[in-house]
Amino acid sequence: MEAWWRNSIGYIIYPASFKDSNGDGYGDLGGIVEKLDYLRELGVDLLWICPIFKTPMHDSGYDVSDYYHVDPRFGTDEDLSKLLHEAHLRGIRVLLDLTMNHTSDLHPWFMKAKADINSKEAGYYIIKKGRWADGKLLPPNNWGSFFSTSAWERMPGTDDSFYLHVFSPAMPDTNWENPELRNEYFKIARHYVEMGVDGFRLDAISHLAKDPSYADSPLPAGKEGYVLDPDRFSNRPEILSYLREFREKGVDENTLLVGEFGGSLQPGEARLYSDRGRGPVNLVFNFDTVWNNGAYGSIDKRDDEIRTDVISLKNNFMRWYPNAATSDMPLYWCNHDHPRVLSQYGSVEYRSESAKMLFTTLLFLYGTPFIHYGDEIGMSNVTYSKIEDFLFDDANRDSLKELRAAGYDDETILRFWRRANRINARTPMQWNRHENAGFSHAKPWVKVNDNYREGVNVQEEMEDPYSILNYFQYAISFRKSATYNDIVNNGRLEIVDYNHPDVFAYLHRGSSTIMCISNFRPYQVYFTFNYELADIVLHNYDGVLLSNHVFTLRPFECYLLKIR
Ligand code: NOJ
Repeated sequence: MEAWWRNSIGYIIYPASFKDSNGDGYGDLGGIVEKLDYLRELGVDLLWICPIFKTPMHDSGYDVSDYYHVDPRFGTDEDLSKLLHEAHLRGIRVLLDLTMNHTSDLHPWFMKAKADINSKEAGYYIIKKGRWADGKLLPPNNWGSFFSTSAWERMPGTDDSFYLHVFSPAMPDTNWENPELRNEYFKIARHYVEMGVDGFRLDAISHLAKDPSYADSPLPAGKEGYVLDPDRFSNRPEILSYLREFREKGVDENTLLVGEFGGSLQPGEARLYSDRGRGPVNLVFNFDTVWNNGAYGSIDKRDDEIRTDVISLKNNFMRWYPNAATSDMPLYWCNHDHPRVLSQYGSVEYRSESAKMLFTTLLFLYGTPFIHYGDEIGMSNVTYSKIEDFLFDDANRDSLKELRAAGYDDETILRFWRRANRINARTPMQWNRHENAGFSHAKPWVKVNDNYREGVNVQEEMEDPYSILNYFQYAISFRKSATYNDIVNNGRLEIVDYNHPDVFAYLHRGSSTIMCISNFRPYQVYFTFNYELADIVLHNYDGVLLSNHVFTLRPFECYLLKIR
């Protein structure tokens, strides 16, 4: 049987920002149910819903305090059952986001660990003795967290111990060496599979195992005495056996497991996880294609230093392509942890052209595409003018302290965050031009992007036959047809004119041959075309500028062609 996800079109929902159904300013499960018909019309049939379990919201629900219940902000357990039922009626499958690398510090396991360091639950966490130096108690080593702090926090109820947290101190890391802890997670997964969930996105899965020596990182520590060195807690070999056990004891073969594997995972290592029939995970997400414009950590850069490196993008997609022979592959431009792709690689000046171009480029490349909610209407980065608008989670609050301590003024921080902060991809979905973009009648938990009044909303785009939304729907209908699906999944992919610095072009040879040609620049460029054109399938401009085997490509112009 062919894996069902090979023919799926995925869609990422950040639930707090999708649709509020009960008027509290927070998106919820009821809101997702309201919009299932919209999603089906669009052609989406696989939802990845970011966390919905009980949480104190230090990290938008990635800090779970109870895995067995839906957080009241998002609704009830019954709402989840209803969502699954209604989605399945429409042929839409649902993935939940499962965070197993850490819990919230308010999870009962951690509460018990704090109350009694000898409890079973204390063994669910990574607790180590600190080091004494000059009469001062220091953390066990110099590891820094992803959230701009030491990775260690004093363990309450002890004189000399610390717990590890590779993200916020409010998110203690779990101890996967402990079989009892692992069993707890297998039980949680089984519970949701029995409820009808079709799979899980496994959050931060590359950090489940840490360097067992817990020795200092060799990287130079900052003046606070710590340094972020992901190699100390990423992609260690033990993870493979943990995930095999998860597949064996937690979920069956038909359950889709999408693993979030951070930065440094290499395609060869990824194959161990996702080889069809042998690997425990089905789709391995990597971040290689996300920041290919220099925006990551770009606080010291000028605006004109941010420029898409098209050759590096081609390289990064192609270095993963060989895996497609033996593994199923996911494809995406961005998720809730990145800026909006339209602002990264496209342009708000050419919103329609660039949104269509980016989607076409991704859709016919290889693997299962995931749309980040709102990309189908051309949502872009925020234009917030106040630092406070960004302070919605620990990551930003900690990062603000760090940046100010390093001497950056607020204007510089604002410019950087508007370019690179993850809130950019978390603003409320823009449904119409009414109050709060039709997302909620109440004040939304985070500011809506004002451009919903300038036509960037579902309702107005539905009414415009040339809108981004209608283009997405039309493009998806091709991608899902048996012929195109077969060409994309099984045809041979080749990049054309690899060294072209501005154009991303590729060919797929299958039962017929298709070619995608995309201009990634906000200006006109030329592209030599030595093929025989049979048909234009998709195009984001009127009129074809082709003469003497050269395409003149207007800003962000893109074609999907059939060639002979
Ligand atoms: C990855 C998630 O996508 C991100 O949003 C979160 O902050 C970290 N994992 C920690 O769970």
